[in-house]
Amino acid sequence: MILTKDAFGIKSLIFRKAFKATFKRQSQEIIKNLLREGFVGKEVGIYIHFPFCRGLCPACPYVRYLWDDLLVKSYLRSLKLEISAYRDLLQDLELKITEVHVGGGTPSCLDPKQYKEIIEALGESFSLEGASIGIEANPEDLTEERIYALMEAGVNELSLGVQSFFRENIRLLGRRHSVEDSIDAIENLEGAGFRSVNIDMMYMLPGQTIEDWVEDLRIALEFEPAQITAYPLLVVSYRPMYKMMMERRVQKQPSMREFKKMYYEAINTLEEAGYTQVRYYSFSKIPWEYSTVEKEMTGPLLAFGPGAMGFPGKCEYINTCSVRGYVKSLSRGRLPVAGIREVNKEERGIRWISERLSALELKFEGFKNEFGEEFWDFVKRTGFSKSLFIQRLLGHIKIYSDRIELTKKGLFSRNLGGWAFVLSVPCRIVEEYLRTPWPREVTVP
Ligand SMILES: C[S@@+](CC[C@H](N)C(=O)[O-])C[C@H]1O[C@@H](n2cnc3c(N)ncnc32)[C@H](O)[C@@H]1O
Ligand code: SF4
Repeated sequence: MILTKDAFGIKSLIFRKAFKATFKRQSQEIIKNLLREGFVGKEVGIYIHFPFCRGLCPACPYVRYLWDDLLVKSYLRSLKLEISAYRDLLQDLELKITEVHVGGGTPSCLDPKQYKEIIEALGESFSLEGASIGIEANPEDLTEERIYALMEAGVNELSLGVQSFFRENIRLLGRRHSVEDSIDAIENLEGAGFRSVNIDMMYMLPGQTIEDWVEDLRIALEFEPAQITAYPLLVVSYRPMYKMMMERRVQKQPSMREFKKMYYEAINTLEEAGYTQVRYYSFSKIPWEYSTVEKEMTGPLLAFGPGAMGFPGKCEYINTCSVRGYVKSLSRGRLPVAGIREVNKEERGIRWISERLSALELKFEGFKNEFGEEFWDFVKRTGFSKSLFIQRLLGHIKIYSDRIELTKKGLFSRNLGGWAFVLSVPCRIVEEYLRTPWPREVTVP
């Protein structure tokens, strides 16, 4: 099997129907009005996309380019311009930043001193007090010295891309680091004092057996990370891995049956080791989660950097994926938004429900606090109640008087649905915007 957007059968079709979205190129005036009017709350998350890596992994679906000193310098200058442009636009809204995530690309490639400057730029523009500040990191960057420099700069959460402790898997994924680098990085992080450290691990790798996957997780557990995230290898047609698999230069992935077994084995292994499942793909030992997803799905999220997607709540936007386009627009005093669309209360409500179910439990009171409407009135009005009743009939959810919980059986269905969504919606958006930096209109899936 190859885990592309078409591998999920009926789920792919459902997503194609349910999550249709059209982003349009608009004038700066319209973009600014939509952004100013678009916030659904004052507690805002910030996502910064750092689109450079020292090497390019052949399966990576994200917006990433090979490191280029000059371009990185221009990017950093433009990022500061973008932050201050948003300050000028939004300053009377009195927004309070609760979390900042720098994703990529490889944010840990950047000199830690730069984070000090970025955090200062954010602090000059918005209230940052008490905010968590997290970055994604590659093992080869995390020397002891750099870890302490990152902490000194104000970074307090970290997500490390280990992927596997088997050399063969690391080679297949085209990663630059060795297994020894991963072990050194984890050991260097121990006791450094980050609020939370997450380790990304990958399964559904070519040639991987269920036993290999469990063994990989067991090795990860020996280091007792605060959080472990388990990603199946997703394959998109716009990256070389797809062609490599189609031409059989790389073995195909395990079957759907093995996918299910690997998933439940991961749950059993991690739960037995004392981890609590906090999302359909992540497991934690501590009572909070390193996650970018909540604000992405429910808003308000401001996003900076090339290819970054923001969601103030009443609108959603994507910045141009071209670094040169990004730099050029900010140097001319223009926001680098390549596409924007309005999002109504109904769509946001359904995003909220999906996000909560991804985190395994949905409380009706939480919905009412967020949307000012009774949960059941909303789902009946939007027709979403049908989907819930089908899920209940299938035994995927349990409905109580005050909440809905995902069942053990429902977890794998959620896992499939979640990854089908990622491949059909965000990856399709990236594919279109990578193809054309400023398209007139893009409709996904
Ligand atoms: C985009 S990377 C950014 C962090 C860092 N550059 C790294 O590679 O570790 C974040 C995570 O995405 C996951 N990832 C990368 N390519 C993937 C793919 N094709 N399918 C699923 N997850 C993937 C990896 O687990 C990785 O740790
Ligand atoms: S997986 Fe990480 S290191 Fe590899 S290309 Fe993607 S962002 Fe860069």
